Amino acid sequence: MSAQIKISPSILSADFSKLGEEVIALEKAGADYIHIDVMDGHFVPNLTIGPEVIKKLRPLTKKTFDVHLMISPVDKFIQDFAKAGADIITFHPEATPNISDTINLIRKEGKKVGISLKPKSKIDLIEKYIDQVDLILIMSVEPGFGGQKFMPEVLEKTKKIKNLVDEKKLQTEIEIDGGINFDNCIQAKKAGANVLVSGSTIFKENRGDLKKNIGILRTN
Ligand code: DX5
Ligand code: ZN
Repeated sequence: MSAQIKISPSILSADFSKLGEEVIALEKAGADYIHIDVMDGHFVPNLTIGPEVIKKLRPLTKKTFDVHLMISPVDKFIQDFAKAGADIITFHPEATPNISDTINLIRKEGKKVGISLKPKSKIDLIEKYIDQVDLILIMSVEPGFGGQKFMPEVLEKTKKIKNLVDEKKLQTEIEIDGGINFDNCIQAKKAGANVLVSGSTIFKENRGDLKKNIGILRTN
């Protein structure tokens, strides 16, 4: 198991009418990262937020903005998200004609690179890029919506990725995203994930007690 577990609350489950306050509250509650889900209604069947919103949130916190791009084609927006204040920019390999080019675009902006696998996407898709990225995001639901049920079949893939990262002696972060709750977070950590994304659990359990929920996910 990775020594340091990080919690990256997804603001997709926040109250969008007071997003700024929600982000400040997450920082106070002990979040490590702020997970920002960007959807385009094309790569995934939902629309969320763009760079302008991130830019407005940026002055409110120094926390790492963990930006999960579910948009295609992704390249033409990378600079906008970088300038808006993203710290980690994660893309899906299916959303670009050339994975190396996309990695280089993110690097050129001085940002950390994340690459994401949907539940049915195979490791082969990203294997040769593992030593070029800072974070691998494993989706444990089909991307598009918060509040879906965790797919335990991705745990096997998480273990394999953890083994690859360890074999290569890399420090790559392994993040898991979708349907994480107080029970399955234990399996996710055992499988090798060190960053847990959570929207519904953090914002809805225990009457929305963010601090308590982040604490339980971290220590369970
Ligand atoms: C789904 C998003 C997730 C999601 C997590 O496409 O990438 O980040 O919002 O929310 P929960 O924890 O509710 O599954
Ligand atoms: Zn996400």
